[in-house]
Amino acid sequence: MASDPLAAKARPGWHSKIILSTTLATIFGLMWCGCSSSNSKSGIILGHYASMTGAQATFGQSTDNGIRLAVDEINAAGGVDGKSIELITYDDKSDAREAATAVTRLVTRDHVTAVLGEVASKLSLEGAPICQANGVPMITPSSTNPKVTEVGDMIFRVCFIDPFQGYVCAKFARENLKAEKAAILYDQSQTYSAGLQEQFAKAFKELGGTITTTQAYQNGEQDFSAQLTAIRGTKPDIVFIPGYYNDVGNIASQARKLDITVPLLGGDGWESPKLAEIGGDAINGCYYSNHYSPQDPNPKIQDFIQKYKKHFGATPDSMAALGYDATEIFCDALKRAGSTATGAEIAAQLAKTKDFAGVTGSITIDEHRNAVKPAVILQMKDGVPTYVTTIKP
Ligand code: PHE
Repeated sequence: MASDPLAAKARPGWHSKIILSTTLATIFGLMWCGCSSSNSKSGIILGHYASMTGAQATFGQSTDNGIRLAVDEINAAGGVDGKSIELITYDDKSDAREAATAVTRLVTRDHVTAVLGEVASKLSLEGAPICQANGVPMITPSSTNPKVTEVGDMIFRVCFIDPFQGYVCAKFARENLKAEKAAILYDQSQTYSAGLQEQFAKAFKELGGTITTTQAYQNGEQDFSAQLTAIRGTKPDIVFIPGYYNDVGNIASQARKLDITVPLLGGDGWESPKLAEIGGDAINGCYYSNHYSPQDPNPKIQDFIQKYKKHFGATPDSMAALGYDATEIFCDALKRAGSTATGAEIAAQLAKTKDFAGVTGSITIDEHRNAVKPAVILQMKDGVPTYVTTIKP
């Protein structure tokens, strides 16, 4: 299965047939799946729910590529207990209801062994309760909001969390950029953005800085002039924008037109090959925190980049790297638990993950099922995210 990642595609078209409400579907999930803990009959099926289309399409596409690369390698090396892994990906179109429906389908119909996803924290918070209720382990490669793993003992992540990321951005702004005054513009429709702006503000103030104003927008908004004009009036040294790339590109262009010339700073939500495309020259010189840098000479990273480029013809972004790591960590835990293990047995092994050498760094799962790892700061230079520094927990 899935021997050629390029041939593998998300399965489209089933969404419209599902007319059950999310709640009802979840109840059915409990009924159908409460006893299906053994995977011996069906082999190993790994589910992935992702934004393959929609507002944040590169998030899902990159993650899926990273997952497919790992699955292919694991299968080529003999799979787990001699069984190969089949990957089923459903497109949630960057939409909350679609995400819940996709996870319900993976868990109750496809009887997956584990679920990978989502990128956006808001969408992971849709899928996590369904996985938890059905006893199916879920690993989010890249959702950083703390609430995601708080859903329960079946929910894991292989990335750092936003209290750390907020601190990283604040520390960089204070110490490297010498910023005293920061303005904030965040996406109030996204759990990730709302959480990260709070964490940044807290850390920036603790480090002696002042927040001049906190402005909000909604994902997909087109005109940011009211918020940007208010921000300009407070004369900040930097503007912190913890949004997703599609909005950030537009915000940067409009900020420059309104003569806001100070550096813009953001979090991992900026990470996309589309950021430079949308933001153009306006985004150059700006900074964001991220999970890894493709410029890191570490052989583990460079080897991954070469393999990924060969398959997909592009440099992997951090979602691709985290998708790869999440898959490897799942298989590592499954090997220890055995291919016929229950969801709870796999979760128990996932919880024991220690010093796993991932592409995005050494991964140890802590008692809250989060990974504790350093972050990197990148600067956009001629449209290329360029390594600046690493900040450790
Ligand atoms: N951390 C973001 C969230 O939780 C998602 C994200 C991860 C975006 C990595 C880009 C890169 O919503």
